[in-house]
Amino acid sequence: MKVKNRHFRTIRPDPDDKKNIQIIDQRHLPHRFIIEDLRTVDDFCTAIHDMHVRGAGLIGATAGFAMYCAVLSAPEEGFDYITASSQKLLQTRPTAKNLAWAVERQLREIAKGENRQDRINISFQTACDIADEDAEFCRKIGEHGLEIIKGISRKKKGEPVNILTHCNAGWLAFVDYGSATAPIYAAHHAGVKVHVWVDETRPWLQGARLTTWELAEEDVPHTLITDNTGGHLMQHGMVDMVIVGTDRTTFTGDVANKIGTYLKALAAYDNKIPFYVALPSSTFDWEIEDGIKEIPIEERSGDEINYVTGLTGENKLETVLVPTKNTRSVNYGFDVTPARLVTALITERGVVRAERKEILKMYPEKKSEK
Ligand code: MRU
Repeated sequence: MKVKNRHFRTIRPDPDDKKNIQIIDQRHLPHRFIIEDLRTVDDFCTAIHDMHVRGAGLIGATAGFAMYCAVLSAPEEGFDYITASSQKLLQTRPTAKNLAWAVERQLREIAKGENRQDRINISFQTACDIADEDAEFCRKIGEHGLEIIKGISRKKKGEPVNILTHCNAGWLAFVDYGSATAPIYAAHHAGVKVHVWVDETRPWLQGARLTTWELAEEDVPHTLITDNTGGHLMQHGMVDMVIVGTDRTTFTGDVANKIGTYLKALAAYDNKIPFYVALPSSTFDWEIEDGIKEIPIEERSGDEINYVTGLTGENKLETVLVPTKNTRSVNYGFDVTPARLVTALITERGVVRAERKEILKMYPEKKSEK
């Protein structure tokens, strides 16, 4: 998508040195646009764990390139090094399914290599394929989601469709386009009027810092709201639909997404507002049946709640403490919305009910594994 009218992806090999992988360091957005170089497996682990990169699809794409880096750094018969690197990567963030999915895909491909150079070539190609597929799947999610938005727009006789979103499931959370934002961008580019309510998304403020920034870069009308505002807007007819992303969705339709998503789904259900979840197939968990009991929920440092960073009048970034020193905070990163509250899933293959039978019908190749 565009940054100051120039097309960017969130991750790419440096065109002058493909051993160097470039990312946008999202910790500094929206006030600073900084490209960071990743060269070692430890660089990649830090970038994922400390959220220089984040969002399910981008975590997967970054893990793909991290495995290429592991192969590059490994000695000739370096399988132990590659396996150890994969284990290290898997520890960085537990909830997003795309991380394990990308690491496992790389391990399967790398095992086919006959010598070191072969493994380097294979892992580089696989990392690029994972990134390209991520972008293409999100583009297709946009096409399918566009039809839903067009339907609502027709009913509203062309009045703007008000869409509420939580966190950032935009292009910054993927390689390009985003999942929840792809239908919004597709609608905006097709001339369908949309307006987005952006939840600020405490504590890391993905909505306030990232979603507002990327929507502004694409000129999509939007308004920032506190996380607690959605229910009020829904009761007053100011939300036509909700679209969120997901970090892991079970093949039975339970959806893990940024903390607070469940409360939005409850409010949407109570107000008969459609609640859509957009995801590429790499985010499905084909093993887990009960999302609430089985999806691992990441717990992050309470400092993310206690401290807030922003821009001063002198254009300096400053971090300040909000509660009194030593206040104990607990910081669950995600919650699980049960399938019964989800109107439908928007995937690269089409729109499907959040239900085991329907999901497996859409992905028949997974049915045989059940
Ligand atoms: O903690 P994050 O920022 O990596 O969380 C991911 C998210 O941004 C959201 O939960 C998103 O809606 C799903 S990821 C596409």
